[in-house]
Amino acid sequence: MASQQIGSVALELRDITKRYPLVLANDHISLDVRWGEVLALVGENGAGKSTLMKIVYGLVKPDIGQIFVDGHEVQINAPGDAIAQGIGMVHQHFMLIDPFTVLENVILGAEPGGGRQIDLAQARAEVTALMKDLEFNLPLDTPVEELPVGLQQRVEILKALYRKANILILDEPTAVLTPQEADELFAFLKRFVAQGNAVIFISHKLAEVIKVSDRVTVIRDGRVVGTVPTQETSLPQLARMMVGREVILKVDKKPAQPGKVVLEVEHLSLQGKDHKQRLSDISFQVRAGEIVGIAGIEGNGQTELVEAITGLRHYSGTIKYGGQVLPQNARAVREWGLSHIPEDRNARGLVLDFTTRENSILGDHYRPPNTGFLGFINSRLVEQEAEEIVQEFDVRPRSTDLAARRYSGGNAQKIIVGRELSRKPKVLVAAQPTRGVDIGAIEFIHDNIVNARDQGMGVLLVSADLNEVRSLSDRILVMFEGRIMGELAADEATEEKLGLLMAGIAS
Ligand SMILES: Nc1ncnc2c1ncn2[C@@H]1O[C@H](COP(=O)(O)OP(=O)(O)OP(=O)(O)O)[C@@H](O)[C@H]1O
Ligand SMILES: [Mg+2]
Repeated sequence: MASQQIGSVALELRDITKRYPLVLANDHISLDVRWGEVLALVGENGAGKSTLMKIVYGLVKPDIGQIFVDGHEVQINAPGDAIAQGIGMVHQHFMLIDPFTVLENVILGAEPGGGRQIDLAQARAEVTALMKDLEFNLPLDTPVEELPVGLQQRVEILKALYRKANILILDEPTAVLTPQEADELFAFLKRFVAQGNAVIFISHKLAEVIKVSDRVTVIRDGRVVGTVPTQETSLPQLARMMVGREVILKVDKKPAQPGKVVLEVEHLSLQGKDHKQRLSDISFQVRAGEIVGIAGIEGNGQTELVEAITGLRHYSGTIKYGGQVLPQNARAVREWGLSHIPEDRNARGLVLDFTTRENSILGDHYRPPNTGFLGFINSRLVEQEAEEIVQEFDVRPRSTDLAARRYSGGNAQKIIVGRELSRKPKVLVAAQPTRGVDIGAIEFIHDNIVNARDQGMGVLLVSADLNEVRSLSDRILVMFEGRIMGELAADEATEEKLGLLMAGIAS
């Protein structure tokens, strides 16, 4: 049994090293987390955070290194070993079984009664008691696929704690949460560590790192740069430690010079599969050379709006592209000159088993100049384009030959942003363009979007990150329950005004 003596070391990693063919992902990493604290782990995209945590959880085998739990060295070769040591993990991408109910997901693989004859009544009683303890309130008989992501994440946490985890690892848990859900998660983490447990928390959002953690360990290029008590550090200092240079935390842009209308949405409405109204009579315009931001709490129609504009979903009403009405399909819209950074990069942005080279022409792979005589792929040109994207957008590692699934989350995002901007679109629809991206790369992506705007591209930006919407947009539209609640110029869009509109309160 773990001592859980507050202040003593819960988990210690010593000299963890892991080499992949192209990178040294973890280079003699040593760190510890104590009982009763939240340790934040931060670092640039590809720094090696997820790899390190997968090693701790038994999903990846290190080349060398030792792991100690409560002062004793342990061998972790599979997740079962980690669970036996009280280590639980909430992954960057959830690992739940969609059609199973909450209860089934929680007890799966750890059923009372040894799995032969499951004692469901006992399981229900145990899980209910645990939920009460955690102040979680989940519908145990609902299939997880019907829950919003914030609640799915709670199922993951519940699952770990049902297995008696007292050391909990969360890899970018807030990337998919609304600010409200994130605050609830933080409140839970504080309660959890106050009971003597330990948490490792990975995030690119430094403001929340400062809010929730007790200490911060920074890694860069697979090595530990340093560990600092949160109270003694600051956002700019952490940013500097992460990227090794000064980061400008504010977008630097000239006033927009809007030109002619490039995108015109008129009386757009659509319904979901359940026949509920998702968008109701939406009208707005985007001009060349301006960035129009859409603010709103996730789930208020932003996803559907983006899907309609990019031709992924049928709608009623009219959308005009450069003054023309196009067929409601993605290929036609793309050929006209619309680029799309999708919110779900793994589902829509990349083919995970394709190389960077292949992914770099995705969506334009079937037509010149990517194909030449008789429709064969113009490999030399495609390779050259892919190399330009990798260089210009700082994709690491610098290979065009690696399958997309082998990139860290943020680097995968850079491949998409690079592809979508380098085809010089007339309109860019950017949904959550910097989700999971590190602070240095955010600066870089923002600069690129602003530069493209200055060269005459129209941008529709949808982001759950209010700071991003405020700092990047020239005008802001606020969505609530499938409608546009109001419009604000960027310089009058205070957090308070936006907040009211986002809550459905018209001013
Ligand atoms: N299965 C794999 N094969 C080859 N290289 C890999 C594999 N998994 C990870 N890598 C490489 O290891 C390095 C570290 O990746 P990791 O996912 O740990 O980064 P990270 O710090 O979690 O980044 P992010 O913030 O973007 O999630 C990256 O360069 C990545 O490309
Ligand atoms: Mg990661």
